Amino acid sequence: MSDQKKPLSEQGLREKSDPKENVRAVPYFLIMLIGAIAMWSLNNIFSTPSGELTEYGDQRTVADLRPAVITGGASKVDGKLIYAGKCTGCHQASGAGVVGVFPPLAGSEWVTGDEKILTHILLHGINGEIEVNGKVYKGVMPAWSMLSDDEIAGVITYIRSDWGNASSPVTSATVKAQREATKDQSGPYEGGRALKEGS
Ligand code: HEC
Repeated sequence: MSDQKKPLSEQGLREKSDPKENVRAVPYFLIMLIGAIAMWSLNNIFSTPSGELTEYGDQRTVADLRPAVITGGASKVDGKLIYAGKCTGCHQASGAGVVGVFPPLAGSEWVTGDEKILTHILLHGINGEIEVNGKVYKGVMPAWSMLSDDEIAGVITYIRSDWGNASSPVTSATVKAQREATKDQSGPYEGGRALKEGS
């Protein structure tokens, strides 16, 4: 429109000229403000200490994020995690089992007693009658020989120390030795008596 000649009429002279678009549509002030906020945020992120101080974030320290290590140095793995993943389905998180179907681990002499027999249960499983806390069970306990020595040591150390059980930790070396000693055992033990005789 601007290149068009304005009419020289009175009305034409009273009219305001057409608005022009500036090169920079966003005001300088706004650009500077956004820039300042961005710089302040970056500075805030990089100057905030992370790691040891717990007043920021969700209060966990670096130590909390490291996997828990079994106390007593018996095993390098977290037995409670293995228990949660492999055993709770049958023996329950409470270690109480399911009445008449899955025997309890809490207060069980098989768990708190001879550590060798306990490793044999894990390494080969049981298929037959076994008496636990005065009740007879006749189910199938799967073998866990695919777990490493560290993992078996970790999980049995855990079940020997929770739910009121207070027996000594079991080392990976013990599991390794028992794996070797019972390598001729094919299939699960036929119940509690076979377990005691086999050890
Ligand atoms: C599929 C179900 C099932 C899973 C999973 C299972 N168990 Fe068992 N467990 C049994 C049954 C059933 C028996 C009793 C066997 C019998 O009656 O012959 C048993 C017996 C036992 C016993 C000896 C009896 C007692 O109660 O003290 C121990 C110890 C044991 N299990 C530990 C474990 C551990 C540790 C895990 C995980 C690594 C595990 N079980 C996973 C079913 C299971």
